[in-house]
Amino acid sequence: MLDKLIRKKGGEAKAENEDRPVLDETVIPRHVAIIMDGNGRWAKKRSLPRIAGHHEGMKTVRKITREADRLGIKVLTLYAFSTENWKRPKPEVEFLMRLPEEFLGTYLPELVERNVRVRMIGDHEHLPPHTGRAITRAMEATADNDGLILNFAMNYGSRAEITEAVRSIAKAVAENRIGADEIDESMITGALMTAELPEPDLLIRTSGEVRLSNFMLWQLAYTEFWFTDTLWPDFDENRLQEAIAVYQARNRRYGGVDKEDTD
Ligand code: FPP
Repeated sequence: MLDKLIRKKGGEAKAENEDRPVLDETVIPRHVAIIMDGNGRWAKKRSLPRIAGHHEGMKTVRKITREADRLGIKVLTLYAFSTENWKRPKPEVEFLMRLPEEFLGTYLPELVERNVRVRMIGDHEHLPPHTGRAITRAMEATADNDGLILNFAMNYGSRAEITEAVRSIAKAVAENRIGADEIDESMITGALMTAELPEPDLLIRTSGEVRLSNFMLWQLAYTEFWFTDTLWPDFDENRLQEAIAVYQARNRRYGGVDKEDTD
């Protein structure tokens, strides 16, 4: 049973902390995907170097992972480094590539204890070896865990992912393993790096930017979006709950209509 902040369906329980929304535990999104943005601005506001913002952002990753687990979210996908982020100054890129090691070096025991499974989407092969090794080690150490899936999008780009999927399907057609007419949406979904994951129910982007930045373009087709001005290092449990409360108030029709509107 979740704590008193979460109401049983139809129940009357009031939130202990009135600032926090009362959530319906039967409508928790299965998969939450987050574009973690605003680290640089958080640092700038404090006259700190950008990397200080990324380091603070890493602490938010821990906080939000714990909260997602507590709320019963099944998959948390975090956009940690895009295929376009290589354009940043070299010292910043090097710092970002060290963060998975620091994060996992510090928190892997906690993730193991919490039954969290670490996985990643993105181009693992072209990560610096030390980054790739840290992630591989964490994926291996948590492979048998069946709790929250903490999915890092690292060196990830959705167009590259879709391109690779198309290439693999085209190859299957060229080799007569399938016919072109057999290609359908489920085949494309199955050829993506997220093949084993449910599609995101809720997408969050922090820092006030309102764009997708090449993130999960196929997978987000029917996802609910929630944008906040809060910068990622300031994002916390209350903001996540707020996002989920908004999600719970949405009416997901998947292109259809409500039953009462079928006249
Ligand atoms: C975007 O903010 C953020 C990133 C490109 C990096 C996100 C990475 C983290 C939050 C830490 C990841 C931690 C682990 C464990 C991998 P920005 O730098 O573009 O911010 P700005 O728009 O304010 O400049």
